[in-house]
Amino acid sequence: MSPKPSLRQMPATLRSVIRFQRPEADPVERRLAKAASVADLRRIAKRRLPGGVFDYIDGGAEGERTLAANQGAFARATFRPRVLRAVGDVDISTSILGRPATYPLALAPTGFTRIADPEGELAVARAAERAGLPYTLSTLSTRSIEEVRAAAPDGRLWFQVYAWRDRGLVREMVERCAAAEYEALVLTVDTAVLGRRERDVRRGFSLPPTIGPGTLLDGAIHPAWTWAFVRSEPIRFANVVGRDVGDGASPVTLSDYIGTQFDPGLSWADVDWLRSIWDGPIVVKGIQTVEDAVLAADAGVEAIALSNHGGRQLDGAPAIFDLVAPVAHAVGDRLEVICDGGVRRGSDIVKAVAAGATCCMAGRAYLYGLGAAGERGVDRVLDWFAEDLRRTFALLGCTTVADLTPELLEM
Ligand code: FNR
Repeated sequence: MSPKPSLRQMPATLRSVIRFQRPEADPVERRLAKAASVADLRRIAKRRLPGGVFDYIDGGAEGERTLAANQGAFARATFRPRVLRAVGDVDISTSILGRPATYPLALAPTGFTRIADPEGELAVARAAERAGLPYTLSTLSTRSIEEVRAAAPDGRLWFQVYAWRDRGLVREMVERCAAAEYEALVLTVDTAVLGRRERDVRRGFSLPPTIGPGTLLDGAIHPAWTWAFVRSEPIRFANVVGRDVGDGASPVTLSDYIGTQFDPGLSWADVDWLRSIWDGPIVVKGIQTVEDAVLAADAGVEAIALSNHGGRQLDGAPAIFDLVAPVAHAVGDRLEVICDGGVRRGSDIVKAVAAGATCCMAGRAYLYGLGAAGERGVDRVLDWFAEDLRRTFALLGCTTVADLTPELLEM
């Protein structure tokens, strides 16, 4: 047994193990230093954002069963790791809609992004550009088509289309996208009417959020958000400022807005119409059955996004990961299969691609980053995904995206 250090030796021993870290002066870095996962950023965002704002981002429809199922399906699928496969050189790059991407991910459209952080869509577009990933701007964005292009001049930008009852407005937005060199249109087809999001109903949540008696206390206990919110320019539906459809200058609930402005009569004929006014790729987002995936392939679109809107629309809709293999089997040779819902780690992306997807999209993951730490929070999430992918490839015995095959999954 080694002799115990004498009292005289103690200070030296202690000195050798104690490390005093200089306190981090930057509050954003301080916050980020405490986070190791998207779940941690979600917790930080929950602390920083008013309850109504956090619930709008975090919540799902009705009993939130589909919301939970999305993550649950990824968690249930386990890997069959192969070993001794020389994984010293891992390449996670891929091709999405025929163009290179740093790894198999596109950022999903999320309306009203500025409620998480005043920079909103500009911050997310810049982070996506830095990461070499496509970013999808929502029709209901709070920064305009042109502002986002100016923020990310070399970024891969897609535009998400909702079908305004006034199709002239859709045509105008498509023309603005072409002029601003957006690359693809993403037609969302799972929102004939808005899902019932009970957290928003309970809180009387409107867009933009109002500061009334109910929210005053909430604002007071989230001073950083409230200060940024009142100091920044008013939040508007930036693509329709000053138009008859309403730009959010008067607060409105999302269900009223969508109910009055968007057309539940949308049908496959509109996909043909969109094709007639747009030369680039079209992604149909919100496919949830093999049958509709086949119809989309028959319609000649370049890609589908399997999506239940992150569990925000039809509660009881299937978990997205469970759809990937059957849909890829049915139409994977005719179009690209993108999927979203529940992606919180790079290993989720690996599972989806192994099951047959071209890539995933993610929504809440980057919104939690944005709400927790602004643009740097989004950077952090996208960096983690890249690190997760490299590590998961290596631990699975894979060196390229082409190595990701269904044999790697126990389903
Ligand atoms: C969305 N989503 C969405 N989809 C869309 O087509 N247009 C939109 O404006 C929005 N807005 C929106 C806001 C918020 C706050 C969320 C969380 C989601 C759905 C989004 O594109 C995507 O399908 C889901 O976010 C995917 O699920 P995860 O990644 O959030 O689990």
